[in-house]
Amino acid sequence: MGQQVGLVSQLFFGRDDAETDLKDGLLRGAVFRPNYAYKAALQGRKSLIIGRKGSGKSAICRQLATLGGHSGSSILITPDDATGDEIRRFELQGVTADTAKSMIWRYVFAVHAARHLVTHARVAHGRRLPESVRTLRSFLKDSGEQGEAGLYDRLRRGVRGLQSANLSLKAFGVEAAFGVNGTSEGARAGHQLGVLEDGVAASFRELDCEGKHPPLLFLVDQLEEVWTAGPESHALVTGLLLAAKYATGYYHGGVRTALFLRSDIYDALNFGDADKFHSDEIRIEWTAEGLEDVALARAKASLGSGLTREQLWGGVFPASVYGEPVAEYLFRRSLPRPRDAIQFLNACQSVADERGGPSITEADVVGATEQFSRWKLDDLAKEYMVNHPFLRSLFALFENTGYIVMRSALADRFEAHREALHRAFPAYTESLTPQSIIDVLYGTSFLGVRRGSDVVYAGGTHTPPLPGEHEFHVHPCFRPALNLLASVDVPAFQYTLTRNSIVGHGGLLNIISGSDVGLAVDRDRRLFDDLVGACERLLRQLGRSGLPAAIGNDVHAQIGRVMAAAGTARRGRDEGEELDVDAHVLAASNYFDNLAAELARNGFADRYVTLRLADEARVLVRAVGGGTGRSDSSP
Ligand SMILES: Nc1ncnc2c1ncn2[C@@H]1O[C@H](COP(=O)(O)OP(=O)(O)O)[C@@H](O)[C@H]1O
Ligand SMILES: [Mg+2]
Repeated sequence: MGQQVGLVSQLFFGRDDAETDLKDGLLRGAVFRPNYAYKAALQGRKSLIIGRKGSGKSAICRQLATLGGHSGSSILITPDDATGDEIRRFELQGVTADTAKSMIWRYVFAVHAARHLVTHARVAHGRRLPESVRTLRSFLKDSGEQGEAGLYDRLRRGVRGLQSANLSLKAFGVEAAFGVNGTSEGARAGHQLGVLEDGVAASFRELDCEGKHPPLLFLVDQLEEVWTAGPESHALVTGLLLAAKYATGYYHGGVRTALFLRSDIYDALNFGDADKFHSDEIRIEWTAEGLEDVALARAKASLGSGLTREQLWGGVFPASVYGEPVAEYLFRRSLPRPRDAIQFLNACQSVADERGGPSITEADVVGATEQFSRWKLDDLAKEYMVNHPFLRSLFALFENTGYIVMRSALADRFEAHREALHRAFPAYTESLTPQSIIDVLYGTSFLGVRRGSDVVYAGGTHTPPLPGEHEFHVHPCFRPALNLLASVDVPAFQYTLTRNSIVGHGGLLNIISGSDVGLAVDRDRRLFDDLVGACERLLRQLGRSGLPAAIGNDVHAQIGRVMAAAGTARRGRDEGEELDVDAHVLAASNYFDNLAAELARNGFADRYVTLRLADEARVLVRAVGGGTGRSDSSP
């Protein structure tokens, strides 16, 4: 297909949520990338698929739900606000909230399984329905569950039936309202539910599907839609986990489940049986290679299947940005999840398209980087709105500084904001301590932690920062939005060669005349030598300062600039240029002071290099002579 350039207007990476992406995006056929979590869920090895917002939970879920996505029948359950309210409100006297919620979920599973069995028996097992299946059919008819009902209506019926112990169990030979006086509401409901579940289990047994058809797969997605702060939400999700485990076990081989849970929700759960679920968990993880693969598949879907990797990352996109290969540049600056990748890629496309360019340029990518960073900072706060509502307020601790923050500096900055934060979030004072905010900021991937020669950002199994770990980095994704351009906020050394106000002395004349002017030249040269010497000592000190490498490099570059400026000025002076040397040296001294202050602010107050910066600054002021003019320098 030759050149890809000129196709920017057709380039499209799809929609950034699986639901719309399926409807009017690209998530069809080859665009879905069967990742490890998908395979584990497909094969039934894992039933809890956990991932951050945008990591591709719904994509896996929808893929499993599509015909051919997995072999066998599936039922997709996605609670909405109304059903969430209903479940949160559901309670039964005499049992815990978790148990009550698990019972309503078990009811939903049982009714769906019954409906499936009736159809399935007819379609897959011939005309005559076995006895147990006919019983289920009568039950469905009696309880109005025959037709296509939404989850909400089904729940409402379950809630009423369980709370007043009047599920329509005639079909199973049980009369309604058989409650024994004296038993709890929960016990009666449990008994009724048991009758229904026995009936369902009996049908599975009688049909003897095991080994003949794959089990019925329950898919539950979008629980984040019904997640709010508070114990009832907690019980809603815990109840679901318990019910899913129960159903899988009880209908032996007839049913399996795949629950899709946002990691912040799953990690916030805290219940007795949690350890029983560990072997069911799989966390969705993405590498840069995986995301590159997603990007290429999507670019192909919009530009044509002949598009190669090389054409995408060197024809459609510029080969590199700031000297970094473009794919690396992009995926290093986004959190590793397909939603972010798609957003970033589409942002690059749209900047280029708006400009009317035939392909995406380096400047387009740089422009998109800024915009993307702002979006993601905002999204991060929204993602954790329920669990950490104070997150957005913490960003202020990082604005307009350097992207490396030492633990002590973070603690100082936090102290300055502590009162205001505690006043704004009185319910979270426990989470608003220096250690807790480090955990939260790390957990959200806002901060990474230095480990050996790497900086590690949250993801999967990494342990949170330990007390002995001191160096934190703001994730590159969020740096542009917070204006964190360098490792520390070192202003560049600004110098302008100020011409001396004394005019009229020709350059050459200064050097040959052995007068005051000549002495002034000697003094100027000595001052420059002092300055260059100070720079050299500082650079040597820096070499053994143990500062984080990125900060060391930035500081090195800045001192290097001061030194180069001194060199240039000295040469100019030697050639007879009239310069305000005092002002120049004092500016450098002042700069060293600022640099020392900035390093101190970042937690390096007691490093020798910081102390030396202040020392050298003082010595330079003294050398200039308290800032007095050149005539003082006469011996
Ligand atoms: N395995 C995958 N292959 C291709 N695209 C994917 C894959 N997983 C997710 N995506 C895409 O990434 C975006 C976010 O995924 P989504 O499933 O909506 O995230 P979640 O439900 O976890 O918030 C969607 O556009 C989706 O189509
Ligand atoms: Mg989703």
